[in-house]
This record gives sequence, structure tokens and C-alpha cells, in this order.
Amino acid sequence: MRLLVVSNRLPITITEKQGLYKFQKSAGGLVSGLSVYLDSLKSSSCVENNYVWVGWPGIAVADKKKNEIRNKLLAGYDSYPVFITEKYMDKFYHGFCNNTIWPLFHYFTSYTIYDEEYWNSYRKTTEIFFDAVMEVVRPDDIVWIHDYHLMLLPEMLRKKIKNPIGFFLHIPFPHFEIFRLLPEKWRTDILNGLLGANLVGFHTHDYTQYFLHCVHRILGYEHNMGKIIINDHIIKADTFPMGIDFDKYHNAAGTKEVHKRKKELNKTLGHFKVILSIDRLDYTKGILNRLQAYNTFLENNSKWREKVILVLIVVPSRIGVEHYQEMKKQIDALAGNINGKYGNVNWTPILYQYKSLPFNPLVALYSVSDVALITPLRDGMNLIAKEFVSVKKDKTGVLILSEMTGAAKEMGEAIIMNPNNIEEIVEALEKAMDMPHEEQIKRNSALQKRLATYDVRRWAQDFIKELLLLKKEKNNFLSKILGPTSRKQLIKDFIISQKRLIFLDYDGTLVPYSENHQKAKPNKIILNILENLSADKATEIVLTSGRDKSTLEKWFGALDIGLIAEHGIWLRGDNKKWDIIKPMANEWKEQIKPLLEIYTDRLPGSFIEEKEYSIVWHYRKADADIGSLIAKELIDYLVNLTANMEIQVMQGDKVIEITNTDVNKSNAGARWVSKNKHDFIMAIGDGWTDEFLFKTLPETAYSIRVGLTQSYAKFNLRNNREVLDLLKLIIKIKKSK
Ligand code: UDP
Ligand code: G6P
Repeated sequence: MRLLVVSNRLPITITEKQGLYKFQKSAGGLVSGLSVYLDSLKSSSCVENNYVWVGWPGIAVADKKKNEIRNKLLAGYDSYPVFITEKYMDKFYHGFCNNTIWPLFHYFTSYTIYDEEYWNSYRKTTEIFFDAVMEVVRPDDIVWIHDYHLMLLPEMLRKKIKNPIGFFLHIPFPHFEIFRLLPEKWRTDILNGLLGANLVGFHTHDYTQYFLHCVHRILGYEHNMGKIIINDHIIKADTFPMGIDFDKYHNAAGTKEVHKRKKELNKTLGHFKVILSIDRLDYTKGILNRLQAYNTFLENNSKWREKVILVLIVVPSRIGVEHYQEMKKQIDALAGNINGKYGNVNWTPILYQYKSLPFNPLVALYSVSDVALITPLRDGMNLIAKEFVSVKKDKTGVLILSEMTGAAKEMGEAIIMNPNNIEEIVEALEKAMDMPHEEQIKRNSALQKRLATYDVRRWAQDFIKELLLLKKEKNNFLSKILGPTSRKQLIKDFIISQKRLIFLDYDGTLVPYSENHQKAKPNKIILNILENLSADKATEIVLTSGRDKSTLEKWFGALDIGLIAEHGIWLRGDNKKWDIIKPMANEWKEQIKPLLEIYTDRLPGSFIEEKEYSIVWHYRKADADIGSLIAKELIDYLVNLTANMEIQVMQGDKVIEITNTDVNKSNAGARWVSKNKHDFIMAIGDGWTDEFLFKTLPETAYSIRVGLTQSYAKFNLRNNREVLDLLKLIIKIKKSK
């Protein structure tokens, strides 16, 4: 098995100067985390030692140079370039990715630009990525797509390939109230795009929940323990906090190369307490807040003046986006200001570098720093926090970490603070500077243990393992699908039999669910199918429904078929007269109704359907999220209220049904099953009420559950269209015999 990684940026970024191409390691957590994992694949038992990384090489390449670049990237870096013109990249990368999604998902709503052209190029550029993946993908590849640039890609690929598809989001997934700021088309396309994957991963539990919440409220899909089933597609959303290569960082701190660097650094920094600030240039990182806090810290703590140095490393990033340019100017000004205000010929309070450090110098810097000041206003994870702690061989050093980072969820032993409050950062700095060594060691020991256990290998392996498991689970479901061979057998058994009985559920089985309950009327095709099937005296058709008997009578009364209404309370047999299954009470309805009315007033879009011996509270048309919350509350009430009554409260798909005990489709169906010696029985249904029947039918019966879900039925069909196709085929073949 090969791993096919897809991300916007390749691990290598190409720059060009006077016709010469330079290959450099790309910046950012996605690349540094994933590269380490891919390097280590050789020792992994989960995926074989080969992978290809598909992505943008960071530059527009002239046609005549493409082959050369492609070959070089493939041979030297296992990378397959996606060539994108500057024009596209501008609206896609600077535009939708970094002027719409990045600010919005990091809660910078006022920076978010909503531009239809950006959106169009987001889709078009995803198609270019799609083409590139199709050029290299093999049938046994695991496809793993990364980050916010490619949220539409899983769905596009799902339509074309059968490979397991994983998606991981490296940035926060925002709360519904933020996500909904996207225009409706964009937000539904993005969610559907992501749901094309088999597994969608996030750094924290909150992001996962927010995603599931948005899927529920915007698309209406419910999840069960993070799993969503849409037709025959199973998707799971789950949490995988990305780790780092702990050993690599920890061991590097003891190497000769790093020692040499440390020695050099100590020449300048040796006499000072060192506070480290290091990030990509990004407004989400809270660099300005940190500088303001350092300013106040020096103001309030004269004892630390000339004894402390802030090493400020800013890694150039996305300079083509206006807010990044602005911020760069502000950082330059503020750092200059602080140095001018407090510095003197012997002491510079801030040592400022605007560049990226390679691995060894970076580790050396982590190593000589006493405090890491990490203050993002929002950050999906933040690997720098993890790297700083891992490098500390003697376990000293203090990590100050913003509670707005994903990392804070796993690093509770750090000094956690809110970066919006400058005073809190100052207090954290004061505490860090004075923290006794024993306490530092105690905190870092716990942190290191956790970082060593859940490292980046574990992160990737867990993700891939779960992705493959899901695929297996789906295959188990698919093996139950009524495929060509079983369908052939079913039809053969139907044809040769003499006495047939067919139970058909209505809503969800013959017709899709409709928001408007009364509008799900049978069309001509369905009536024709029922008429044709029942025309043969050897075939008994029984329609099993939860609907009331008058609706069934109105819609199907003229047909020569059996009817079961209210999930088994009312039965209409050969004489076309309605019978009640047993004497039943319905006075309880008057007690229950006022409660349902209160809830109907509270939840716009919900309504009550009253039948003779049961009542149903529907909330399909209501706001999905509030609907489920209120439904849970109502069920609690109803269960308590009805504890001493002979009635049952049942929850179906966006309905709560209150009915007499012992009423179900199995008890009702038994009337037909016991009446004749059938040599062919088939039952098709899509809901939990049909399970009663599936459970109790004779061993030889064909039971078919519509939708891919756990069931007592022997077979599954994906949706109502497949049910109608099966019935039409039976009729066609029967007629031809
Ligand atoms: N990094 C680096 N050189 C630098 C600064 C940072 O290689 O001079 C790496 C760092 O080791 C880390 C990544 O950049 O792995 C930053 O990841 P993080 O998750 O902290 O932030 P992101 O850039 O993804 O927002
Ligand atoms: C963050 C994002 C990555 C991105 C990186 C660098 O880590 O999650 O997807 O690659 O920043 O940003 P850039 O825009 O240079 O790719």
C-alpha cells in the first residue's frame, strides 16, 4: 500500500532568481510534522515504505521547465508538483484560502473577504489538484488530503475513485455561528466536500464537535459517535492531536552540531535570561500582544532590565496578503520602539530576526531559551510549544501558552493564559521568570512523557489505522447489499414459488422522506408497481406504515393489497375492512397532547400528527440542532409521564411516537404470515419499526433494510430508488415468463 499525501504546499518550495531554481524546505506545521512522519515510514508497520506527496511547488513554472522540475521533485523529494498559474493561485491562495477561510476559521471575522471570484477559483483550482491526483493515484493507494485549501477535493475524488480517502484539517474548525457567515452555497459545498472523505480528522475534540454540529445544522445529517451514514457512504469525524517527533528533537539537543550552535549563541545570550518568541508572520499568532506585554513587563519590573532578552524570530509568510504586510510593519515599529525606549549600548531588549531557522540552529535556540512565550489569538495546534518542551534534556524551561491553541488542551502543565489580556501575559512572564527549577522539572517531566507517547508517528498511524478500519466496516456493510447474485436468486425464488407474501414499508422505502408529511403521496409509478404485483393472485402485498388509516385508505384504498396503519394498530385484510389488532385505550392522548403542544409552540417547524391510537411529534422541518436538543428533553418528560401507563415512547427519524405497548409491525404482520403456507416471503423497510418484522420472519424470508445501517435484515439496499428498481425487475421478469 502506498500513501498519497495531498496538500496545497509541497514540503519543498521552489524560488527562482535569474533563471536559477532554488529548492527550500517549506515553512509551517503541516510540512514539518508530516515530513517527519513520512521520513520515518520505513519502520512503520501500517503503511509500506513508499509515498508520494502531491502539491503546489510554490512558484508558477514555465511550460518548457515543467518536465525538468517534475523529475527533480519526484526523484529527490517524492513530490509530484501541481502546476498552477499565478493568476489562479492569486485568487485561490491569497484570495479564498488566506483572505476568506484562514481569517474566518481563526475567528478574524472582520478580516474575512467574501468574494465570488475567490470562491470560483477555489473550486477551479481544486479541479487542477484533482487532475493531478488522478494522474498519479493507484488503486491500492491510501489518499490523505490535508488542510483548508483542499476542502472540496474529497468529494471530487470520491466520485471517481474507490480508495480510502482521509482528510485532516490543520487549523481550527470554527463554531457554527462563525461558519455560517459563509454564504449558503459555499458552506454547504465545503461540508459536502469534506464528507466525501471516509475519515475527517481534527486536532481537538472541540473542532470535531463544531464540525459535526455544522453538518447537522446545515446539511441535516445526524451522527452517531462521530459517524455519519449517507446512502452507502460512511464518514467518521474524529480527533487526532498532531504530535511531533519527540525523539528527534530530544536527541538533537545532545548532538555535537547543536552544542556548537549553543556555544555560539551563549556568547551573546549567556548572561541573560532568554525569552523566545518564534512564529510564522501571522496575525493569528498574537505577536503584537506579546510585544506589548513584554513592554509592560519591562516597565513594571525594572529588576529584569538588562538581565533579560527577548529573541523574536518571525518567519516570512504570505507576504502577498495585505494584513500580513501591515502586521510586519507594526512588529518592526513596536520592536524598534521597545529597543529604543529601554535599550542602551550594553543591552538590546529584543533581538529580532525576520527569517526562518533550519533544524539545528532552531533546536539550539530552544535549548538556550529559558521561557517560550507562545501567545496565539487562535491556533489549530502549535507545534513550536511541543518542540520547545521536547528539546529540554534537563527538563528546565518554562512554556507560556495561549489557551487559544489546540496544544493547550494537551499541555495543561504549561502556564496557560488568555492572550487578549495583556496583564495576563505580563503575570505569566513574571511567574515564569521566577519559577523554581524543581517546579519547571516537575511540569516538563509530565509534558515530555505525554509528548513522547503521542508523537507524530502515533498520530499518523492512528489516523491511517482508523481510516482502514472504516473502509473495512464499509465493506462489511457492502457485503450485505443485495448484489446481482442474490438478486438473481431472489427473483428465481419468487418466480418458482406458489404462495408469496411481500411486506413493503412506505415512507423512506417506496418514497424518500419529505419535509411535508402530507406531500409524500404515491405517484403513478408506485401505484403501478403495487397494482402489477398484486394482480397475481398468488402474491399478497401488505403495505406496512406508521401513517393513519384514513391516509392509507385515501392513497391505496382502491388497490387489492393489505394495509397496516399506525405501525400495527390497524389492519386491512382481504375484506378491505379495517380491524384493530386488540382492544386499545386512547384516553391517554388527552393527557399527553397538552405537553406536545407546549413543545410545538417552543419549536418552530414542529407539529403534532394525531392518529386514533397514537400521537406523533414531528420535527423534521425544525432547526436540526435545536430540534434534537428539544426532542431529547421531551423524551425525558414523556418517559417519566408515561411510566405507569400502558403506552410506549419511541424515537424515530426526526419523530417521537407515543403509542400503545405491544404495537409493532411484527405482531401485525403475523396475521398474514400465519394465514397461509407461504413459500416466498419478502419484507422491505427503512426504519427501526421494520426491525420488529425482520427479527421474527421465518429463516427463509428475504428481509431487506433500506440504507446502510446495522440491521436484523439479511440484505441492504441503498435507497428507495433501488427498491423500486428491484420491484420493477420482479414484475418485468414475471411477465416475461
Ligand atoms: N519552524 C522552522 N523554522 C523556524 C520557525 C519554525 O522550521 O525558524 C517550524 C517549527 O519547527 C514548527 C513549524 O515551523 O514545526 C511551525 O509550526 P506551528 O504548528 O507552530 O505553526 P504554523 O506555522 O503551522 O501555523
Ligand atoms: C499553516 C497551515 C499550512 C500551511 C502553513 C504555511 O501551518 O496549516 O497548511 O502550509 O501554515 O503557510 P503557507 O501559506 O506558506 O503554506
